[in-house]
Formats: sequence, structure tokens, C-alpha cells
Amino acid sequence: MVDRFIREFGSLEKDDFRVLRGVEEGMKTRDWVPVRDVSVFSGLPVDEVEFRLGRVGGLGLVERRGMDRVRFRLSYNGYDVLALNVFVSRGVVDSLGGELGVGKEAEVYSALIDGEEVVLKFHREGKVSFRDIRRSRDYLGDREHYSKLYIAKLAAQREYKYLDRLFGEVRVPEPISWNRHLIAMEKLEGRELSRVKLDNDPQFILEIIYEEIEKAYDLGVVHGDLSEFNIHIAEDDLRIIDWPQAVQTTHPEADNYLKRDIKNITKYFEKKYQIKKDPEEIYKSITNQK
Ligand SMILES: Nc1ncnc2c1ncn2[C@@H]1O[C@H](COP(=O)(O)OP(=O)(O)O)[C@@H](O)[C@H]1O
Ligand SMILES: [Mg+2]
Repeated sequence: MVDRFIREFGSLEKDDFRVLRGVEEGMKTRDWVPVRDVSVFSGLPVDEVEFRLGRVGGLGLVERRGMDRVRFRLSYNGYDVLALNVFVSRGVVDSLGGELGVGKEAEVYSALIDGEEVVLKFHREGKVSFRDIRRSRDYLGDREHYSKLYIAKLAAQREYKYLDRLFGEVRVPEPISWNRHLIAMEKLEGRELSRVKLDNDPQFILEIIYEEIEKAYDLGVVHGDLSEFNIHIAEDDLRIIDWPQAVQTTHPEADNYLKRDIKNITKYFEKKYQIKKDPEEIYKSITNQK
């Protein structure tokens, strides 16, 4: 994972990156890319490409298939390296810190820039199952061929877009930069709501969460995966995270997602803090159907 290959990151040469980008280019139209295509896309001679592919293959950045007609594809690690390289050149990151959370749809790390901590979220959406791919079909459009990397990239793009639209109005982490399947964002203090025991005034926190849902709704956005795991709580801060599956309020399923979001939160506070709210009433008040 990130930690392992990052040690190799410094040893990568410019032409290694060209070869990796060549494989990436080839993957726009097929799953496995023949060496001659990588040569065309990278502008490097075939024997040079073969040598480089062997090298980056040894680092786990590409996978190889076939005997006579050898073909290659980028691994997630290879894709990580390409995105990180862009962040390094943009000055968004200068060193990597520890792991903050590895779920099935993302790996989250802390990183440093000029001594300041930021968060790097590597999307992994294509990794899971066909069901998840179908779920994200929405944003796949009409493209005939898509790799799992492309799915992760679209998810990151969406998450960045929504964070960018909401930040400043709704309590979300500040987005810093986006490339491929990687987002850099503000590092939050505190921890997930699910791992906190709210001692004073949980009711007040619940009201804030409803307010944030309403503010997002008024800006035309529904989170779509809201739960105690996607709310970050610190001493005097609360933020809603994890936005790749968000939809516009005009989306045909937006209302169902909104209802589900409200229900998840309402249920959680009822179970853990015995606060009773009627989700239907909250839904009406958020959507102004009073
Ligand atoms: N900006 C952030 N600051 C601090 N921790 C974060 C931040 N973003 C995510 N995390 C941590 O990483 C975990 C996974 O991130 P999340 O965006 O929820 O992705 P997913 O649930 O899809 O894996 C979160 O539950 C949280 O603990
Ligand atoms: Mg999450």
C-alpha cells in the first residue's frame, strides 16, 4: 500500500512516469495494454519501454499478463504514484504521514506540506463489486470501456466538486486539490461521531446536523450516505465527510436519499441518546413542505 511504495517513489525516473502514463493512456480503451501501445503513447522505443515496465512491475506499479503477447495494466499503486507525483509537483504534498482510515471505498492518509497536516483520500471505488459499479453507473455516462481506475477517478472528481461547492456554506472539510482518484483536503480534528460519547447536549448536535442537511439541500445537494460514520466531531467542531455519492436535488432518487439520510441520523440519536424525532417531520421542514 501507500507506505510501501512511497519509499520507492524517490527512485522513480522521469521515463518511468512516462511509461506509467503510457499504460494509463492505453487503459482508456482496453483493460490490458500491449507494449507497442505503451511505446506509442509514451514516445519511447519498445526496448526501453520493456525495460521500464520490468522495473515498475518489480515495484508493483503495473501488473503483467500473457507469455508471447505480453500486456500490462496499472495497479492501484501505479495509479497512486501518478496522482501523488502531480501533487508533489503542485506543492500540495511534501511527505506522507500515517494511515487514518482504510475502508472498502477509500484509503485515507495524513500528509505534510510545509509542516502542516493535510489529508489524502485515495478513492478505491472500482475495487469492490459489480454492484458498486452499477451504483456508480450514474456518472459513468455512455463510455463503452471503463477500468476500475476510471471509476475511482470519477468518484474523486465528484467528491471534489461537491466539497468545493459546499465548503464555506456547509460544514465540510476544505478541499485543497484533486488529481485522478486522489483528493487532498483539510485534516480534521476529532473523530467519527460513532466513536464519541456526547456528554452535554446531544440534542444540540442533532439540530446542527439537521441544519447542515438543510443548508446542503438549499444549495441543491443531497449527501446520500449520511450516517454516524461520516460525521466528524471535535471539541468545538462538526463536519460532514465522504461526499462521492452525493446527488443534486434534481436527481430522480434525491428525495429517497434525503429521507434515508435523515432516518439514519434520527435512528442513531434515538438509539444512543434516547432523543425522539419524527423523520417525516424533519424531512418536511428541510424541504419546506410545512
Ligand atoms: N478530512 C479528514 N480529516 C481527518 N480524518 C478523515 C478525513 N477524511 C476522512 N477521514 C477519516 O477516514 C475515514 C474514511 O474516510 P471517508 O471519507 O469516510 O471514506 P470511506 O468511508 O468511503 O472509506 C473517515 O471515517 C475518517 O475517520
Ligand atoms: Mg465514510
